[in-house]
Amino acid sequence: MRKHLVVLLLLMAFSIKWAKADEGMWLPYLLGQQTYNDMVKRGLKLTKDQLYSINKASIKDAIVIFGGGCTGEIVSNEGLIFTNHHCGYDAIASASSVEHNYLKNGFYAQNKQQEITSPKLSVQFLVKVDDVTKQVEDVVKGLNGAERAKKEQEIYADIIAKATNGNGYEAKVVPMFKGNQYLLFVYERYTDVRLVGAPPESVGKFGGDTDNWEWPRHTGDFSIFRVYANKDGKPAPYSAENVPLKPKHFLPVSIKGIKENDYAMIFGYPGGTNRYETSYGVELKTTVENPSVVNLRDVRLKAMFEQMKKDPAVKLQLASSYAGIANYWKFFDGETKQLEKYHVLDEKRKQEAAFIKWAQDKPEFAGVFNDYAAAYKAWSPYAKGRIYLTEGVLGSPVAAFAGSLTGLERALATANVPKETLQQAIEAAKAARTNFLAAENKPSDQKILAATCHMFYTDIPKDQQPGGFYDELKAKYGPLDEDKTYNMWAANLMANTMIFNDAKWNAFIANPDAVTLQNDPAFAYASAFLKNYQGKYLPLYQQFVAKNNDLGREYLKGVMQMQPNANRYPDANFTMRVSYGQVKPYSPRDAVNYDYVCTMKGVIEKYVPGDYEFDLPANYVDLYNKKDFGQYKDAKRNDVVVCFITTNDITGGNSGSPVINANGELIGLAFDGNYEALSHKIQFDSNYNRTICVDVRYVLWCIEKLGGAKNIINELKLVK
Ligand code: ARG
Repeated sequence: MRKHLVVLLLLMAFSIKWAKADEGMWLPYLLGQQTYNDMVKRGLKLTKDQLYSINKASIKDAIVIFGGGCTGEIVSNEGLIFTNHHCGYDAIASASSVEHNYLKNGFYAQNKQQEITSPKLSVQFLVKVDDVTKQVEDVVKGLNGAERAKKEQEIYADIIAKATNGNGYEAKVVPMFKGNQYLLFVYERYTDVRLVGAPPESVGKFGGDTDNWEWPRHTGDFSIFRVYANKDGKPAPYSAENVPLKPKHFLPVSIKGIKENDYAMIFGYPGGTNRYETSYGVELKTTVENPSVVNLRDVRLKAMFEQMKKDPAVKLQLASSYAGIANYWKFFDGETKQLEKYHVLDEKRKQEAAFIKWAQDKPEFAGVFNDYAAAYKAWSPYAKGRIYLTEGVLGSPVAAFAGSLTGLERALATANVPKETLQQAIEAAKAARTNFLAAENKPSDQKILAATCHMFYTDIPKDQQPGGFYDELKAKYGPLDEDKTYNMWAANLMANTMIFNDAKWNAFIANPDAVTLQNDPAFAYASAFLKNYQGKYLPLYQQFVAKNNDLGREYLKGVMQMQPNANRYPDANFTMRVSYGQVKPYSPRDAVNYDYVCTMKGVIEKYVPGDYEFDLPANYVDLYNKKDFGQYKDAKRNDVVVCFITTNDITGGNSGSPVINANGELIGLAFDGNYEALSHKIQFDSNYNRTICVDVRYVLWCIEKLGGAKNIINELKLVK
């Protein structure tokens, strides 16, 4: 009896840990009554159907996947979209030139004719979701590892083919709860998306990487696009004949302002969390993976920045790639620090001990953690080498491009390869080279090449290196522990590869052969490292991933049996979620209290004229001094609120997501998480976790007062 009581108490403690207030990225499609009731208790005024319905227009119809990894929301009946500046960044940079520098100076279309087509962009609406667990499980039941993965792919393909047959939709089957449930998501993708407006980068990225992932934050992180359709409202490639999409639903915009404890709901596409990560995973991440990524990115960023600050054309060319690398460089560094600070490893070990105890008389689950230990033991020695390949060697753009030519090499080296296959490989290589050259900055790349090749030599065990490559390097260029050797080698590679030499490249393409390719110094380099990895370590990695998938599925199945009544959400996996919470301040550390809003006063305080990160547009300070806040002034603060924070549980991918009040109106755009909660992918902490949102009143102030684009304001449905 007593023993049982102990177990029961342990279980209760365990489940409380996993069901904290504010935590949760819920599937709107499967919103349980318990979750909905809690939303109402916290202030929500809408019915479940108003949040998500497949028959009637609902909030879900105003939410889009924006581009490849962000969220956007429809805010007018003419398909106007709000998202973050950092989500529109690449499109804004691509639309810019040194003469018409929209990234630097901002841009607002005064009418639809002035909107700028963004060929790389698309938006996707969620059409419906179906539970296909039974269909998948009928096929994969009892299977494990590679065999299961193969069968899964087959049944997914069947299900998708049926769901998209003749309707132009796209679909995906996504495992939930690490493969204990399978959902089908059907999307409609629109490819005619045009840039409507963006603030100058000094506003849209105010604070740069110094302030990134930090509160207090003063960034006007928004940009504006419009989705076009053909006359029937269906997706169509760009055409002057296309018309703005009439959406099923759009969000009204509330400029009433926010106060502490207000209800806040965020719909969007969180990319990934791993809340059921094991202690083994946390340990590998914090000791090997994260520090490696951070070291390698540090070198790459420094080389890029050195060139970007010298030349506005290079700045424009590298801006988007730089921002992406920098964003997760800081993230991974902070993630390690926070995981350590909150003792997440110990926490995980305690949870696992409870599970092991529960599982000891259950053969299905008893061995899970022994197997985890074995899987990590087998893979860990090679984990660093994998990161040094992907983030280091292939972090050099020329090496990455050269490495992509291994497909062509294979085609060339295969006897009797069909003519079409070869031609396809050649055409692909030509197109990839054009894209590569447009994005290439040789001086920074040469530095990256030299530095990462040296780091691989220094940091990775010798028996895991492509020894032949380094032997030759030593023979030709000198001692392997000297920078000079790598610098000479990299300079030589850049000068002699056919990749930068049109005459040599064209001669090769006109009459391609494997030997010429293999003798190219860039190709030889990339392929030496790729083949070294693919031959020995990739199979081990694949085994590790497959084993981890199997064990994760088992572990979670066990956890769900152990706590059958817990209200549980699946890990984020870039499917639509809703999270709810409140506007709330926090205390990051002893004696420090952070307010839940910040204002333009703080922008001015941070302003450093001419600075790379803290500059402001010319008219900004004037407007501020005149207190020209219009209808966007916050009465209490006698200023414009720039950003605010909420307790919502979100992650990368949610960028651009609407922050919605209790009535279903837009009050802000989520754009970041705070530093103290960078451990959030693995563990949510309601004391420290905050979502950083740009207040929609600041967005509108920037559009109207700073940008003079009243036409955009007129299109919105304002709630005053
Ligand atoms: N941390 C933000 C996110 O992941 C991106 C912010 C972009 N800004 C920057 N300075 N890199 O959504």
